[in-house]
Amino acid sequence: MKKIFVLAMVFVLLATVFSGAVGAAPPNQGGEGQTYVVQANDWLSKLAEKSYGDVLAWPVIWKATLAKRAEDDSFADIPNPNVIEVGQKLWIPGEAEAATLLAEFSAERAAASPTGSADVTGELNLLCVVELDWCEGQISEFNKLYPGIIVNWVRMSSGESLTRLRNEASNPQFDVWWGGPIDSYIAASQEGLLAAYDSPNAINLRDPKLMKAADNTWFGIYIGSLGFATNTNYLAEHPEVSAPTSWADLIKPEWKGQILVAHPSSSGTSYTHLCTNIQLRGEDAVWDYERALAANVLQFTKSGSAPARFVGAGEAAVSIVFSHDIVKQIEKGLPLKLTFPSEGTGYEIGGTALIKGAKNPELAKLWIDWALTPTAQTLGPKYQAYQAPTVTGATLSHPELLEVNLIDYDFEYCGSNKKAFVDRFTNEVANADDLKK
Ligand code: G6P
Repeated sequence: MKKIFVLAMVFVLLATVFSGAVGAAPPNQGGEGQTYVVQANDWLSKLAEKSYGDVLAWPVIWKATLAKRAEDDSFADIPNPNVIEVGQKLWIPGEAEAATLLAEFSAERAAASPTGSADVTGELNLLCVVELDWCEGQISEFNKLYPGIIVNWVRMSSGESLTRLRNEASNPQFDVWWGGPIDSYIAASQEGLLAAYDSPNAINLRDPKLMKAADNTWFGIYIGSLGFATNTNYLAEHPEVSAPTSWADLIKPEWKGQILVAHPSSSGTSYTHLCTNIQLRGEDAVWDYERALAANVLQFTKSGSAPARFVGAGEAAVSIVFSHDIVKQIEKGLPLKLTFPSEGTGYEIGGTALIKGAKNPELAKLWIDWALTPTAQTLGPKYQAYQAPTVTGATLSHPELLEVNLIDYDFEYCGSNKKAFVDRFTNEVANADDLKK
């Protein structure tokens, strides 16, 4: 079971915690509390059940142990309440301490869920990387909370947005960046283009180690897997071929001139495909594969999701696109079949970040705080955006898109090497001179 699916499982458990009221104080845990050493198959809600007869009281053990660690580092460090390890020392507080901690935790969560304000005014300059209709929709939802904020926004692909932030570094025109794989955010953060912001809502993230920069310069706001979309009319007219179900299928001669994919210099979707194959094949062998794939590509596109629309229109037979974008086009009636590569596919964590030097940082922080709430992360399906959420308390519209063979995608590696890998692709595989728009 791949890491991300385990997260989805744990997420369902946690969703019951955050979506419902946190349980009553433990009925039978008297005294001052006690230390406990984690055993095999322990997890916090199970220990809460044992100690207090209430699985919902797990934040008590988490917060109490963190408080003990602040004074005594023999206690465990638990950055992610989903993950505790055998041998770690925890503190199981007594009834009185537990009640206080539960009240604090509930108040913390209530304070962190912005309810908006009509009194906040100003202009927020937003760089949006998701589909146009979702950009528009999400901003209209934000304006329901903050009607006094004028949001000026532009939609760009990941590569373009990173280039724009680099070019404007001395005089940033944007305040907040929202959407697109975090590979570009990691690159931008390493180049000093993003500002750290310790959002109170980072607490909602299911896996802070995976879904947040250690220095708080970016946060994950959605998850999506990479898939193949094949035109079903093409398949009907060519019974000798079948929809590709592996990366190896894509370089077969039968697909010559029949594949559409974005160029990794402009598209985060395509960069995810490139770094997936780098991780599957190694930094040397991958380039022969990419050259063989490029030989089958009709034309590289600028936008990552456009190939699904072009293939749906019959301009080619196969595209490499995020699976949620393929589901969206199938739902719109395009003749497409979704498949996944058997060797393992890559996935994205969509990001958001405060731009360093932003002219409206406080408004940008309101956007980020909101983007990290279950409310904001359940709006996507309303705008045909089917990415999975990164926060607890938000349901997955298409869990099946993450229940596929995902590689253990190394975001730090792909983000840190983005410029180098894109440059190699451009120089050794295909340039970006004539991208299909
Ligand atoms: C689409 C997807 C997003 C993805 C984005 C990247 O909008 O729905 O999940 O993050 O593409 O865009 P790009 O054009 O950079 O590939």
